[in-house]
Amino acid sequence: MARETFYITTPIYYVNDLPHIGHIYTTVVADTIARYKRMRGLDVRFLTGTDEHGQKMDRSAKQRGVSPKDLADQVVSRYHELWKHLEITNDDFIRTTEKRHHDGVHAVIDRMQTKGDIYKGSYGGWYCAGCEAFYPETQLVDGKCPDQGHPVEWLQEESYFFRLSAYQDRLLAFYREHPEFIRPESRYNEVVRFVEMGLKDLSISRVSLKWGIPWPGDPEHVVYVWLDALSNYVSALGFGSRKTALYDRYWPAALHLVGKDILRFHCVYWPAFLMSAGLPLPRQVFGHGWWLRDERKMSKSLGNVVRPDALLERFGPDALRYFLLREMTFGQDASFSDEGFLGRYNADLANGLGNASARVLAMARRYFEGRTPTERCEDNAIRAKAAEVVGRWRDAMDAFEFQRALEAVWELLTAVDGYVNEKAPWGIAKAEGASSPRLHRVLYNCLEALRLAAVMVSPVMPAMAGRLLAQLGVADQRLDDQALAWGGLPTGQPLGGEGVLFPRADVEAFFGEAKVDENTKPQTGAPAPAEAIAPAPAPAPAPVAQPAEADQIGIEEFARVKLVVGKIRAAERVPKSKKLIRMDVDLGEPTLRQIVGGIGGRYEPEQLVGRQIVVVANLKPATLMGVESRGMLLAASLDGAPFLLGVDAEVPPGTGVK
Ligand code: MSP
Repeated sequence: MARETFYITTPIYYVNDLPHIGHIYTTVVADTIARYKRMRGLDVRFLTGTDEHGQKMDRSAKQRGVSPKDLADQVVSRYHELWKHLEITNDDFIRTTEKRHHDGVHAVIDRMQTKGDIYKGSYGGWYCAGCEAFYPETQLVDGKCPDQGHPVEWLQEESYFFRLSAYQDRLLAFYREHPEFIRPESRYNEVVRFVEMGLKDLSISRVSLKWGIPWPGDPEHVVYVWLDALSNYVSALGFGSRKTALYDRYWPAALHLVGKDILRFHCVYWPAFLMSAGLPLPRQVFGHGWWLRDERKMSKSLGNVVRPDALLERFGPDALRYFLLREMTFGQDASFSDEGFLGRYNADLANGLGNASARVLAMARRYFEGRTPTERCEDNAIRAKAAEVVGRWRDAMDAFEFQRALEAVWELLTAVDGYVNEKAPWGIAKAEGASSPRLHRVLYNCLEALRLAAVMVSPVMPAMAGRLLAQLGVADQRLDDQALAWGGLPTGQPLGGEGVLFPRADVEAFFGEAKVDENTKPQTGAPAPAEAIAPAPAPAPAPVAQPAEADQIGIEEFARVKLVVGKIRAAERVPKSKKLIRMDVDLGEPTLRQIVGGIGGRYEPEQLVGRQIVVVANLKPATLMGVESRGMLLAASLDGAPFLLGVDAEVPPGTGVK
């Protein structure tokens, strides 16, 4: 019988810049899921690649004085090296400059055209080259793009249009019938709200840009970069070519993994394109959160981007993979800090996993002359704990809750530690000698639990798992359901080589060196190899600032304040207070936030429900008249009276304010 297939994809990365840990995150998560699904016996296909066309790429190449293709080639080679170093097991790597992709895009467009969904018109709009997207005037924030605050420019040109408006109802019906299509649930709601607000036809070609795939039959136009990019998911399977075996086997995709910033393209445009082309829709799109740096958004202009090179060189791929999956609740934002990274590394890897295995292995080496025990033990507390942990780990992995999955494994390690303390194998050895069957059974249980821990962490830390299994004397390292059953540790077999799995990091020395690095390197967190792509010319000096310097704050300081749009879902007066109102505010998070505001002198609770407000989302919680407030709403204050700040068009809760 044919095995169940599982086609998983990452976004294809822009190649106008080198990868940072945000990019790595998506790929590491995809790799972890791919490894896990293979382990569970599924027929997995894992795709990643690069998005090489578009205005952003064209501009970056011009600034560097190279051709877009040359720039792409340079950066793509860095991606290849990085994925190899991180042990990413993708089956294919697609570049949008490849012929197979060009053919796939044309095939998709041909089908959309045959359906009658494409027409020629003229387009005028505000274009953000950073996001490669048009925005209506009403969505601009301070004249900049609403998603990332990039500058926008007015473009007016002839264009092909896709009748996206005709798909609004079909998309909404599809979301209703397939609530699992968009994950996590909060993002599902965001997308549904966006589509409910109305869809306009989409401009899907450009004439002013030459760096792209020529429009079929009208080469004056190039294909809009998102139609081009999204089609990679089918062109990589041979769609549009004569060899469609992979397409027939793996399409539709089981999972498109994307960052939350590109959810709309994957959950609105892509399914509409596919409906138009008469192709099946992917089963799920998962929108994960953002990696921030020290609580601030990572961006090139702030110079706070975390590049992976130094971390990889120093701690190896497993530690970085582990940190990314352990630290971020999949779906939410998380912050990267050096302290956080080192703390986790030392606590969980050097101490937790490293110590637990070193301690047990050392005893087996000492008492059994470097061999695994000769007695198995079928009925014991560790076996029961391991069975329970394996079950929980599996459920968590199935739900993509990597944090919970890893926590379960670490619980097993703690249980092993406790079991060792309780049974005190050294006491048994002293009283009964090294041949004591009890000693063999106790240590068998510990080593077997470690073997199971290695198998469970293998999708996250493949190299480390392999090393630990070798140390445990496991010659057959097949990773499948069978490997998760109790009793896989061979008896009386030689243990593998010694060697510390994760040497403890000296935190003080690390930060001492980091200081030296900062003084000698051009950009914090950007190690030397980051400059391996042709450098952009130095920017023109900024105009001299006007107000007194003491009154000015840097953009970094401002960026620390997390301002977002919220929607008030419920409001009531705080008992015994004239002014305080308690509100449940939707910030696009999984649960509503309770916020207390002193606005009751001017507003009645009924007037507030359903209203969009602006909230400082990262303010420390405070208690006002016994009610906790987790955020602050913004209001203009005139003679002590509050006037709430709002947004002049409906935007999804959680939208950032800059
Ligand atoms: N080329 C498009 C994707 C086309 S897919 C058909 C693109 N590329 S990107 O290089 O800008 O981003 C690729 C992925 O990296 C996105 O999923 C994005 O969310 C993710 N990340 C970029 N910065 C990130 C963080 N700081 N944190 C987590 N992921 C982020 O968009």
